[in-house]
Amino acid sequence: MADSDLYRLYNGLMLPKIAHTDESLNYLQNFQVKDDDIFAVTYPKSGTTWIQEILPPLLNGGDLTSVQTIPNWERVPWLEENQAPLVLDKFPSPRAIVSHMPCHLMPSSFLNSKAKVIYVARNPKDVLVSSFHFHKMATFLEDPGTLEEFTDKFLSGKVLFGKWTDHVKSWRNPELGDRILYITYEEMLQDLREIVKRILNFLGRELSADALDRVVNNGTFKNMKTNNMSNYSLVPDVVLDKKKSNFLRKGIAGDWKNHFSPELDAKFTAVIQEEMKGSNIRFPWDE
Ligand code: A3P
Repeated sequence: MADSDLYRLYNGLMLPKIAHTDESLNYLQNFQVKDDDIFAVTYPKSGTTWIQEILPPLLNGGDLTSVQTIPNWERVPWLEENQAPLVLDKFPSPRAIVSHMPCHLMPSSFLNSKAKVIYVARNPKDVLVSSFHFHKMATFLEDPGTLEEFTDKFLSGKVLFGKWTDHVKSWRNPELGDRILYITYEEMLQDLREIVKRILNFLGRELSADALDRVVNNGTFKNMKTNNMSNYSLVPDVVLDKKKSNFLRKGIAGDWKNHFSPELDAKFTAVIQEEMKGSNIRFPWDE
């Protein structure tokens, strides 16, 4: 793998050039993590935008003003992207920050801090399908080719942020202890209220029943689709071509069944199972 017009390599990870400059990656490395920072970490297409919708009102008593007036990438910014230096330094604490970084590439100040992490995982088959459609609409990414071709890239880690298996395994770092909460996209779909309560408990916070209702109702797929601060309609078509796909596309679990042939499924399952062997990590979709 080498740098190309669209991608750069960063410690072996493929990143889109449009979002990551030398400056932003230096900023990432030198970022001073504060003990009350809250990181939401995802492999791309696992529910990042969703968590960007949930966290701000959860942290401020159910107030929806920020989700209605500030684009998701500014209200819960990416740690490693271009706008981070402009946004994060001015942020009041506690700062809610998203990241796609594997654990070992977090800033050096991260592991020794007390900052908390919410890690959202999603069935990699649905991650793949979501990413495939995203590559069709994102003009700053290579055309994905056929689903079979894109699957080969995905399984060999020649995709944004590397292999899915490496990412989920990196975040099982025992040094994190109880600083990390593991949730899944599928659990959020099944019972968002329950997951919001779990996040509140993890962060040591409370919300009134009314405020909790507001957070949950605001975070439904239907409501996010119509929220211009969350549905990426602010990004012009020359960057994200909405004629090809929607960013908030289907919002379901199991869409892979509409895309995978039995052969593709067998191959995908075999590679992922082999790489997860011995890790003791169990996900709802493995049952
Ligand atoms: P699909 O392409 O399968 O629809 P990310 O934000 O990490 O890029 O992930 C995007 C995926 O999360 C998309 O999946 C998107 O529709 C889904 N998503 C975002 N908000 C959601 C919500 N409230 N409910 C269900 N899915 C949601």
